[in-house]
Amino acid sequence: MTQARAALKTPTEKAPEPELGHERLSKDRYISREYMEREGERMWKRVWLLAGHVDDVAEPGDYFTLSVARESVVVVRDDAGEIRAFRNVCQHRGNLLRRTPRGKIRSLLCPFHLWEWKLDGSLANIPDPETFPQGVPPEKLRLKDVRSEIWAGFVWITLDPNAEPLRDYLGILPEHLDPYHFDRYALAEDYSVEWDCNWKTSVDAFNEAYHSQGIHPQIATYLDDVRIQIDLYDKHTRFLVPMMIPSPRYADQENPNPVLVELAKSVGIDASAYKGRLEDLRRDFQQAKRRALTQAGVDVSDLNDDQLSDDYHYTIFPNISLNILGDELWIFRHWPHPSDPDRMTFDFQIYRPVPEGQARPPRPETQRGQGAQFSLNNEVLDQDARNLPGVQRGMHSEGFEGSWLSDQERRIRHFHHTLDQMLAREP
Ligand code: FES
Ligand SMILES: [Fe+2]
Repeated sequence: MTQARAALKTPTEKAPEPELGHERLSKDRYISREYMEREGERMWKRVWLLAGHVDDVAEPGDYFTLSVARESVVVVRDDAGEIRAFRNVCQHRGNLLRRTPRGKIRSLLCPFHLWEWKLDGSLANIPDPETFPQGVPPEKLRLKDVRSEIWAGFVWITLDPNAEPLRDYLGILPEHLDPYHFDRYALAEDYSVEWDCNWKTSVDAFNEAYHSQGIHPQIATYLDDVRIQIDLYDKHTRFLVPMMIPSPRYADQENPNPVLVELAKSVGIDASAYKGRLEDLRRDFQQAKRRALTQAGVDVSDLNDDQLSDDYHYTIFPNISLNILGDELWIFRHWPHPSDPDRMTFDFQIYRPVPEGQARPPRPETQRGQGAQFSLNNEVLDQDARNLPGVQRGMHSEGFEGSWLSDQERRIRHFHHTLDQMLAREP
């Protein structure tokens, strides 16, 4: 007897609008050290964070590290095959245990005085134990555990031992995103770059499309930056961004422009037949893309047609932006600098589905860089990178009194509202 699989579908209905007011958004949140410290105490320690991909801890001994404000965390697969996370700090005198972002180890060995832990966090060895008159009790000197859970092929961590379960934190997201089957995706491109701006200056820039006209005028050829659906959920938000259609701001709404022609060609469509029928071109593009992907062994049967042409763009509070393009998942992670509100790290990863029956491809090297001149191999992101330092610099001016936000920017308002609520809670 065949069992019908429960239908997975990403909900597309518009969420009700919360009342968020129209106040100016204070600027201290972007530039003050005091605010940054409060974020460290009250926000970064409480949330669930996307730490990395399970592929990066595929085998026992594989590990990766991440910085969360002033903390550092190491995620490792232990000898029993379990994924574990620890504060990345030696219990002797506080040295960082692992300084490299990724690698393979047999144990967690501190290079300073060679204290050593097994991969499950239990103490393995201390040189010259007889010189510690107070003893070296293993239960006191165990590595400090960090909670971790897996969803969608990613390892998530929280520094809060009392945090709600990951699924509860994610709220609507599993229902919305499970139809993509991200666990069948593998990393294809990986970048990490330091930018001269606050991490929220960066988050904000990816929470509105209002700046497309100014910073990315070229995308008006294939992206509708006006008829975007905005959904504000509990903590998280999304945009449904129509693509494969010109912006209403673009002059020629009749003829397929050269960018649309190229995109159509990529799925075998000759766009010249679509003069005056650009909506039809978008529909046919979706069908052709579905056929091409299915033929290539990528199961897109749980996706609606728009998901094959559009950008389903989610912001997972606090620091994840997802651009989901039907056969590509782009992840941006916006990390704060540990001590400087004017700096951040921007991680950009592209994941692609692994076709049925094919081996997972080898992991690409991480391209690391510094500043706006470091190219992310993407025109739009490079434009954002060049713009952001000027925003950060300008916000320090006494001539700036805080952000005056439009309705197009209400994801920003919602994001900061969520953050304010967290910061209002005692640690
Ligand atoms: S600080 Fe790690 S062994 Fe001494
Ligand atoms: Fe942008």
